[in-house]
Amino acid sequence: MKPGRKESMSRRDFAKLSAAAVSSFAVLRGASAQGSSEVLKVGLLGCGSRGTGALMQMLQGNDNVQVIALADVFPDKIERTRRQVEMNPQFAEKRDIQDDHCFTGLDAWKGILETDIDILLEGTLPYSRPGHLEAAVEAGKHIFTEKPVAVDPAGVHQVLRASRRADELGLSWVSGTQRRHDKQYRETVAKIHDGAIGDIVSMRAYWCGSLPFVHERNPEWSDLEYCLRNWYAHCWVCGDNIVEQHMHNIDVCHWVMEGFGIEHPISVFASGGRQFKPDEPKYGDLWDHFSCDFEFPNNVHLTSMSRHWDGLDGGVFEHVYGTNGNSTCRDMGEGPGIDPMVQEHINLVNSITGEGPHLNEGVTVSYSTMATIMGRISAYNGRRITWEDVMEGRLKDYSIVPELDWDAEYPNEPVPVPGKVGAGNLPELHQR
Ligand SMILES: NC(=O)c1ccc[n+]([C@@H]2O[C@H](COP(=O)([O-])OP(=O)(O)OC[C@H]3O[C@@H](n4cnc5c(N)ncnc54)[C@H](O)[C@@H]3O)[C@@H](O)[C@H]2O)c1
Repeated sequence: MKPGRKESMSRRDFAKLSAAAVSSFAVLRGASAQGSSEVLKVGLLGCGSRGTGALMQMLQGNDNVQVIALADVFPDKIERTRRQVEMNPQFAEKRDIQDDHCFTGLDAWKGILETDIDILLEGTLPYSRPGHLEAAVEAGKHIFTEKPVAVDPAGVHQVLRASRRADELGLSWVSGTQRRHDKQYRETVAKIHDGAIGDIVSMRAYWCGSLPFVHERNPEWSDLEYCLRNWYAHCWVCGDNIVEQHMHNIDVCHWVMEGFGIEHPISVFASGGRQFKPDEPKYGDLWDHFSCDFEFPNNVHLTSMSRHWDGLDGGVFEHVYGTNGNSTCRDMGEGPGIDPMVQEHINLVNSITGEGPHLNEGVTVSYSTMATIMGRISAYNGRRITWEDVMEGRLKDYSIVPELDWDAEYPNEPVPVPGKVGAGNLPELHQR
C-alpha cells in the first residue's frame, strides 16, 4: 500500500461549501443575538458507538437543539443510530431525521455539509477527521469533534488550518477531550494554575488498559470495509494506541502546562513494542505498549506509558509534581458536576448562543494529538523527535493515510521493528 494522503475533497468542493458558509454564518449570528430560544440544527457524521453517544449527550444536555441529519460510510450504522434516537421518547421534540438527510458512502461528508445543520458532530475515525473538519469549517458549521483529530503530522496541520479558519468565521469548536469539561478536573487545574502546588517540575501520564475489541472478517467485506470496521488494528486508521487513547492523559498534562505559558513539548524520546498481542492478522500492525519521555521547557519531563495488556496491573491517570506539592489533576475539586460528556455539549451550545464563553478547542486538541504522534514516530524509529521536526521540519508533511478505494487492496502492514521494518519506519530518520 503506497502511503500518501488522500485529498478527500477538491478545491471546487471547498468553493461550493464556502458559499454555504456565508449564509449559514449569517443565520447563526442572528441566532446568537436572539439567545437560546433559537433551535440549532445538528448533524452527526460517523454513526458508530461514540458518535451516537455524543449525539444523545448533545440532545440530553440542551433544549434548543434538533438532530436533522446523519451520515456514515455504512448504511447499517445510520439505521442503528436513527432507531436509537427515534425510540427515545425523551427526544421526541428534538429529532426530525428525513430519509433525504441520511448520507452514506465515502462522500457522506459532502451530503451532510450541504444541509442546513448549524453544528456538525464529527464521530468518525481519526484517519478521516482532518478533511471532514476542514470542510465543515469552510461550510460554516460549528464543530464538536471526537479525538484524536489525526493520525499523522500532515493531518494535524490540516486541522490547525481549520481551527484558524474557525476563528476567522467566529465559529465555536469543542473537542472530545472531556476532562477539560469535568468539574473536578476544572477546579483542580484552576488551582494548579493559581499556584497551589508551585511551579511544575515533572508529570506522569498513564493509559495502561486491556486489549481492545477485534473483529473477525466477514468474507463479503472488501479490504477497506474490513479496515474500517476492524479499525483498532491499523495504524493508518487509528494512529496506534498512544494516539487513539493515551492522548487524553497527554492532553491533561498539556492543559496544566498551558497555565504556565507552555503549549507543547520540545521533544520526545520513546520506545515500545508488541509482546502481548497475538500474532494474528486480525490484530493488524499495532503495538501493545509505548513508554515516552516528553521534554517540556524549564527541564520539565513528562513520563508516559500506554499499554494494551490483559489481566495485569493497569491504570489510567495523570499526576503532576510541583515545587510545593503534587496533584492527580482532579483531587482539589469540590464534588462531581454533570457528566463531562454531556457538559461539553452544553458548553458548545452556550458558546454558540453567546450564553457562555466563546470556545475554540481546535488548537489544544491538535497539539495533544501531535505530541502523541511524535511519541509513536519516536518509538517506531528509535529516534528522538522534536516539535520542530513535525511543525516545520522534515516530518511536517508526513502522512500515512492511503487513497480510499473500495476495490483496492489494503494488506496488513508488518508490525514495526524500530529502525528496521514496518510502514512507520522512516528511512530519513536513520540517515543522520
Ligand atoms: N472521548 C472519548 O472518551 C472517546 C471514547 C470512545 C471513542 N472515542 C473516539 O471516537 C471515535 C469513534 O470511535 P467508535 O468507538 O465510535 O468507533 P465506531 O467504529 O463505532 O464508529 C466510527 C464510525 O465512523 C464511520 N466512518 C469511518 N470512516 C468514515 C468516513 N470516511 N465517513 C463517514 N463515516 C465514517 C464508521 O462506519 C463508524 O460507524 C474514535 O476516534 C475514538 O477514539 C472517544
